[in-house]
Amino acid sequence: MGNITAAITAVGAYVPDYVLTNEILETMVDTNDEWITSRTGIKERRILKDADKGTSYLGIQAAQDLINKNNLNPKEIDLVILATATPDMAVASTAAYVATEIGAINAFGYDLSAACSSFLYGMSTAAAYIQSGRYKKVLLVGADKMSTIIDYTDRTTCIIFGDGGGAALFEPNEEGLGVQDEYLRSDGVGRHFLRMEAGGSLLPASEQTVANKQHFVHQDGKTVFKYAVSSMADASANIMERNKLNHDDVDWLVAHQANKRIIDATARRMGLTDEKKVLMNIHRYGNTTSATIPLLLNDFEKKFKKGDNLVFASFGGGFTWGSIYLKWAYNPL
Ligand code: UT7
Repeated sequence: MGNITAAITAVGAYVPDYVLTNEILETMVDTNDEWITSRTGIKERRILKDADKGTSYLGIQAAQDLINKNNLNPKEIDLVILATATPDMAVASTAAYVATEIGAINAFGYDLSAACSSFLYGMSTAAAYIQSGRYKKVLLVGADKMSTIIDYTDRTTCIIFGDGGGAALFEPNEEGLGVQDEYLRSDGVGRHFLRMEAGGSLLPASEQTVANKQHFVHQDGKTVFKYAVSSMADASANIMERNKLNHDDVDWLVAHQANKRIIDATARRMGLTDEKKVLMNIHRYGNTTSATIPLLLNDFEKKFKKGDNLVFASFGGGFTWGSIYLKWAYNPL
């Protein structure tokens, strides 16, 4: 990589007020708190109840939180990337709307879609723009209103997902901080195991697709779990090896929050015995798809110190997965 590195210089987040607990889910489907907690680590998740608000609302609130906390002038933002699997609508870029609503009137915006790896891939894209010298302020937003594509009568998926948004600002750094390396992969074999079948070009919406519940997420949980454990652990171990990092050198594991057992397996493979290094908030939000990583950054921002080594890891539909090694660029505010 060149002389300019791409650092995260600010973060923000937003989750809706409504809390969907395991106890409430017990009244909706045949499940129980013990099963959900032991199999996934999830205790509750947030749901955006307002029918007239889409993913853009979550993204706008998260971006606004970042702007307010950091006194950022939105007119200075060059680019807004919205990582999401649930855009407001097809064709009209949701990112363009988010950019306009937050006052980023000098920016262009587009959506980036790679299921649960959208934010991780977005970090790569944002960093590349900064490293090239082309742009100075790239705002990466990760947001998903997963509740719009979840069947709340299907106990295998409704216990997992939640709604939320997060944001990170990428800027040039001349001290060598920020993104150091990335290892990103995908494999189309995953297409059959985790998907929302209808509503795209392959199977457009029809009365039949609605009746067949093909506008909801379906997954073969066991298969996805197996791929997730091995791929996320491999990618993280690989990036440590390439950068000659041992477990003591890694200060924080920032992993996509899909299942506590997948995160624990990744940490074990990396040799991280200190639980405090393994960032976790899945118990509070469940799997918010593109928002898990920025929600972690926002929740744990005060713990990070300048120069800390963060290893990011993610796995999602497609399949898509990977790992990014980043040096944190600022001390707690
Ligand atoms: O973020 C994108 C990537 N996604 C993931 O990484 C998800 C990966 N997969 C998983 O996290 C796990 O596979 C799940 C949490 C989805 C499921 O956990 P599991 O340990 O793999 O359970 P299972 O699917 O093997 O099901 C075990 C049993 C089944 O009953 P039988 O067939 O053994 O009688 C299920 O019907 O648990 C049953 N079950 C439930 N029981 C109570 C499934 N869902 C529930 C539920 N409550 N909510």
